[in-house]
Amino acid sequence: RKKIAVLISGRGSNMSALIAACMDPGYPGQIAGVVSNRPDAPGLDTARRYDIPAVAIDQTAYADRAAHEAALIRALDEMAPDVVCLAGYMRLLSADFVRRFEGRLINIHPSLLPLFPGLDTHKRAINAGMRIHGCTVHFVTDRMDEGPIIAQAAIALVPGDTPETVAERLLRAEHRLYPHALRLVLDGAVRMSNGRAIVKPAPPVEDET
Ligand code: GAR
Repeated sequence: RKKIAVLISGRGSNMSALIAACMDPGYPGQIAGVVSNRPDAPGLDTARRYDIPAVAIDQTAYADRAAHEAALIRALDEMAPDVVCLAGYMRLLSADFVRRFEGRLINIHPSLLPLFPGLDTHKRAINAGMRIHGCTVHFVTDRMDEGPIIAQAAIALVPGDTPETVAERLLRAEHRLYPHALRLVLDGAVRMSNGRAIVKPAPPVEDET
């Protein structure tokens, strides 16, 4: 089974969804380790409860982004991941870092990209009068929230929705989407080539009539 490293900054509920998926022996991946840029991320303890190696590489302990990323890369190299999953990792990664893991670095973002890159996505979707909203798993490139799309899930926005009600509803969709999208990448059903996502055609369905 292929090895997955997960980068988090906080709660880590998407990380938990990936851990749960990998507990199924039929799933094509296993979690090699979890890294947080914040030592107080609650997700670190969650991972440790599953006996998954979980380390904090505290960004405030390094002089600059390059030094922090060098430490991050050392920690990741030890885990030898096939795929690195960003799961609520809230620090921008440099072009150098992204290039190093190109095609095997993926992220979940709480909007239907290319709509609403960046922060406060639920509030912006509500204010725009959107009737649907959603989440996207994409390959990470050096342009924030712009990488080739692997998979998306949509939810309806309803009258009375607030950023909080939307966040809660969408998070459940995220937890289903991320393991599905990761599986597509692990199986080679979606891969990145020349900055685009290439989707393998599904096998033809046999006509049984
Ligand atoms: C998730 O909603 C994720 O989509 C979002 O942060 C939350 C993390 O929750 N990610 C971003 O906004 C990335 N720019 P979690 O720590 O419980 O998975």
